[in-house]
Amino acid sequence: MAEHLAGARPGAGGPPGPRPAWAEVDLAAVRHNAALLRAVCAPARLCAVVKADGYGHGAVAVATAALEAGASWLAVALVEEGAALRRAGIEAPVLLLSEPPPEAMEAVVAERLTPTVYTRPGAGALADAARQARRVVDAHVKVDTGMHRVGADPEDVAEVVGAVVGGSSLRFAGLWTHLAVADGTAEEDRTFTDRQIDRFDDVRAVLADAGLEPQLLHAANSAGALCHPRSRLDLVRCGIALYGLLPSPALAGAFEEAADAAGLEEGLRPVLSLKARVSMVRVLEAGERPSYGRRYPLPETSVVATVPLGYADGVPRRYFEAGGTVLVGGRRRPLAGTVTMDQILVDCGPDPEVRAGDEVVLIGDQGAGSLSAWDWATVLETIAYEVVCGIGPRVPRVVVDSGAGPPATGAAGPGRAAAPAGRLTDRAAGERSQAEDRGGR
Ligand SMILES: Cc1ncc(COP(=O)(O)O)c(C=O)c1O
Repeated sequence: MAEHLAGARPGAGGPPGPRPAWAEVDLAAVRHNAALLRAVCAPARLCAVVKADGYGHGAVAVATAALEAGASWLAVALVEEGAALRRAGIEAPVLLLSEPPPEAMEAVVAERLTPTVYTRPGAGALADAARQARRVVDAHVKVDTGMHRVGADPEDVAEVVGAVVGGSSLRFAGLWTHLAVADGTAEEDRTFTDRQIDRFDDVRAVLADAGLEPQLLHAANSAGALCHPRSRLDLVRCGIALYGLLPSPALAGAFEEAADAAGLEEGLRPVLSLKARVSMVRVLEAGERPSYGRRYPLPETSVVATVPLGYADGVPRRYFEAGGTVLVGGRRRPLAGTVTMDQILVDCGPDPEVRAGDEVVLIGDQGAGSLSAWDWATVLETIAYEVVCGIGPRVPRVVVDSGAGPPATGAAGPGRAAAPAGRLTDRAAGERSQAEDRGGR
């Protein structure tokens, strides 16, 4: 017996287009998280990191909500990402986190972005572009204190700053660095982070002795902002926490201390939920093996639900063999075989209640059930960053605002998102028990 979505019972809310699969992005949760980060890190100001299309959430919507909640800066990786924010009418300062190639400097100036530079040729190309545009452009200089990805070596920083202040078209507006293991809880990691901040301070002091003092010093990502008060300086550059996710489940305790110190009642709220509707159900007998490769023998006669999201949408093919689950009827259900490009199959057990059209939650809350991006990351042996950034462009982002009530903001959507307002302890403690610390973006 099989039932298809065409004949299914209608449900409340749903996708914005024909395909019954969507990601809900709750702007109230973004505002909540931004306000929380500001409260924890004050007097440091907040820079909302919205690169990679806002970690897969939608950069413009997230940036707008974060600015509404008091973020003063935005940061992106690419000139193209900054230009997209400007096209959307966003006027806030936008920091570029890597030095753009020389040929991109004209666009940097035209889009009024704030570039980071860390090479003499980079600073020179920026100075030329600013001069040609008859503008004075703010530049931030990045120093490599131990991450060893990009940035000037401490001994070369004075030369780069010299190239910035040498002409009249650039202003030395910021000095910054990036922390490699701020999310680590081992003593070694904490010591390394301290050493990075010490090195940064030494560079700052040498420049200050030469009369070179920028307006803004910054070093902290989310983990630094939450767990290393010394790194907060003038500005914290937060990405993952803005999206309601801890940088590492192992930081739950440290985060709670920081939240308590700031007198906060509530923790971070996850911003994104990934949802779909069951497109087909069939009852299969024990021993049947659904999907490619026939790798999963059903342990008992079961309702198997087809759900229209697959590896082309960010459900990794490995999710099946890793033991990943999804929520149907408020309960975690295992996949019933290999993830395919556009669809997954779910073993709902001998549950007669599951019908075509029922809501499936892949990330988010449903009834008493909950599945977080960190739950996915734990079974997939990765980090939540990769999970949310991996949700593909085929999945429509439905912007909702659980704080404003209907009508929804932005794209047509299902109205209020289920934004869990629970204290951070429950969710974070669960995460902590499931995963150990793993760094690296
Ligand atoms: C230079 C820089 N700063 C800040 C961030 C934000 O990091 P997080 O998402 O851990 O807050 C990133 C993200 O990778 C980054 O590359």
